[in-house]
Amino acid sequence: MLTSFHSRAQAEFHPAPSIEPPEEAKLAVSPSLPKDAGCVGTFVGMGEGVKGAGVDAAFLEAAGFEGKAGQTLVVPHQDGPPLVVVGVGAKAGLDAGRLRDAAAAFARAVGKQTRLALQLPELGNVPVELAAQALTEGVLLARYRYRPYKRQSEQEPPLESLTLVAGKEDTDAVEQGMVRGGIHARATAFARDLSNAPATLLTAARLAEVAEGLAKRCGLEVEVFDGEALARLGCGGLLGVNAGSAEPPRMIKLTYTPQGSKGEAVEPVGRVSLVGKGIMFDSGGLGLKPNDLVHATMKGDMSGAGAILAAMTALKPLGCRTAVTAYLMCTDNMPSGTAMKLGDVLTVRGGKTVEVINTDAEGRLVMSDALVLSTEQSPRPDAIVDIATLTGACQRALGVLSAGVIGNDQALVEQVKDSGERTGDTVWQLPLDRRLRQELESEVADLKNVGGENAGAITAGLFLEEFVGGLPWAHIDMAGTARAERDNAWRSKGATGYGTRLLIDFLLGFKPTRETRH
Ligand code: BES
Ligand code: ZN
Ligand code: MN
Repeated sequence: MLTSFHSRAQAEFHPAPSIEPPEEAKLAVSPSLPKDAGCVGTFVGMGEGVKGAGVDAAFLEAAGFEGKAGQTLVVPHQDGPPLVVVGVGAKAGLDAGRLRDAAAAFARAVGKQTRLALQLPELGNVPVELAAQALTEGVLLARYRYRPYKRQSEQEPPLESLTLVAGKEDTDAVEQGMVRGGIHARATAFARDLSNAPATLLTAARLAEVAEGLAKRCGLEVEVFDGEALARLGCGGLLGVNAGSAEPPRMIKLTYTPQGSKGEAVEPVGRVSLVGKGIMFDSGGLGLKPNDLVHATMKGDMSGAGAILAAMTALKPLGCRTAVTAYLMCTDNMPSGTAMKLGDVLTVRGGKTVEVINTDAEGRLVMSDALVLSTEQSPRPDAIVDIATLTGACQRALGVLSAGVIGNDQALVEQVKDSGERTGDTVWQLPLDRRLRQELESEVADLKNVGGENAGAITAGLFLEEFVGGLPWAHIDMAGTARAERDNAWRSKGATGYGTRLLIDFLLGFKPTRETRH
């Protein structure tokens, strides 16, 4: 129920302005420095002088600049824009990830400048297009702020333009890389917006409206299931978690069908089903979370669903040839007189029963319905990938830079890992140790929703595996990576948009690992 205060705020508020920004930075490539540049960035490797950048090696050394990755030095000029010297570390092993980080360091060093120029460095083995993409992502993502609730006077000015300065022979490749980088960054910013949006304003129903609003433009089919439709489908997991909430649940089904250049249907290279945890706010339910900083970040418990929605906005513009179906399982998890109780038994889609031992292990409940729906699709998917802010245990184990990945098909897990490396949304594999399955045995139901106190990320994975019907499946636990507590390279403080670029990269390069259609 919304109070009048909330309704007013909601009316004025777009939960995710990045999907259609009023002013978007102009991305350009030029063989010479643009005249209107507010500052110019140049990269320097460790142990090298600056070439043609207007400062010499001795000067840099005297200033304590060593060219370490991420180090920056702003050199003011009396008769021109300041030069920002940015370290990229040793020449050996330079890759797109380091360029993305360095570009982000540049963006953070330029303060409120709005027209940025950046000289393409010597790239070694990095292809020009990839470098341009990484640099664009680094700058745009570092510059991101969630602004709707800030007074105008406190807002940092949005970026007006980014120009990459590159030789004429590289113009086309740089331009293509910048376009790709722009698409990736915009999708990531959209995911960040969704996760940063306060939970009372971005409800499950509102998220469904946002998805419907962008469907046409992004070449997606969107189907929304309300409580009644979910009851007809027998989605007892999502409905059980929703039982305590004043807000209705939504399952948002997105479909992307690859098309040729003239809009004609083309045979997809593979079919992937995605499942996203969309807990709009996780209070813990009747097993209420303590009043602490973790609880205070639980508006972001829909980040898996947000990453999927955001990634899917990029498939058509990038010409993805994989057919994708996605289920975003959306509700908040609230305590009330109608909430599910400890010891309740839920029947999820397909008929398996689950004893609820802990109302705070709600993510796996809402996901189980969607995993089963994924297995029922015709034709069957070649792979199921789920993504969720699922367990604090995963964050404890891996920290906040890499998500956990668990799966039943190593070739599929390897594809997820490779996408993680390429995009900087890194993952680390945890074992699907089936000896721990016995921890999920229940006295009264087919299984219970939590295991013992150890290996919480793995027993959560084992729970999910129960519902994938033996299809190739990978589970990404992004509990640790969904938020950054401080600015760190391209991750701006707050929601990181983790998973968006990983999923885009994964879907664009997906190869079926085995035959699933018999
Ligand atoms: N949404 C949380 C997991 C989480 C924790 C996400 C920290 C982001 C940061 C999830 O629903 C949850 O509450 N998990 C429990 C599982 C437990 C009850 C088995 C947890 O991690 O404590
Ligand atoms: Zn949760
Ligand atoms: Mn929870």
